[in-house]
Amino acid sequence: MAQLALALDVLSRERALGLARELAGLVPWCKVGLALFTLVGPALPEALKNMGYKIFLDLKFYDIPRTVGQAVRAAAACGADMLTVHCQGGERMCLAAVENLAGMERRPLIFGVTALTSFGQGEMPGVAADPEDFALSLAGRAEAWGLDGVVCSGFEVAHVKRNCPDLLCLVPGIRPAGLVEDDQRRVVTPAAAVKDGADFLVAGRPIIESPSPRSAAEKILQEMSQQK
Ligand code: C5P
Repeated sequence: MAQLALALDVLSRERALGLARELAGLVPWCKVGLALFTLVGPALPEALKNMGYKIFLDLKFYDIPRTVGQAVRAAAACGADMLTVHCQGGERMCLAAVENLAGMERRPLIFGVTALTSFGQGEMPGVAADPEDFALSLAGRAEAWGLDGVVCSGFEVAHVKRNCPDLLCLVPGIRPAGLVEDDQRRVVTPAAAVKDGADFLVAGRPIIESPSPRSAAEKILQEMSQQK
């Protein structure tokens, strides 16, 4: 059964905690990303954990291997249950992430970001391949490097699952039918993502910008459960 992560993409600790409180017990994961983590730091994951959430710390590490090795250890110390590195950081960087968490009793799952869901055709600098093909090729490498999963769009999740059945797939760019795509380009509905084999769905604006975040999340969860 696929699990939903609420992307707390807000710029206030109070607003983040308010949303988390409203959705506690309904959504199992909270995603803390670049902006919120930069603003409030590690105290927030701790507070969210105390509300019963699992923490997806989505800082998309991309640096030299040693720095990323240190960063994943720091993320684990902040209570991350799941974290992200960029597959484009390459083999040595991804292996540094895996090796630095090896042997931990409850280590976070490591997901490799393939092609951001905001990339459309021809938008990736220096990459001639379509985002879908590029994501697929990076997923094969992520599996070989020992990552637990990849972040990909709903456009490629079925292919990734077919080629790399042991990789977990996390799909952002989730838009219930009728909602605008915002800055995202490769968007799918919750039902389509689950039907194609996603293990985790990440949704931010469709929930946090709704007049009723709890009902919006309930609707997404209902759509997800009808597919499995
Ligand atoms: O508001 P929306 O549902 O588009 O938010 C999607 C979330 O997923 C954002 O927090 C974004 O940082 C994250 N994400 C993404 N595409 C990726 C990886 C993460 O949209 N490839």
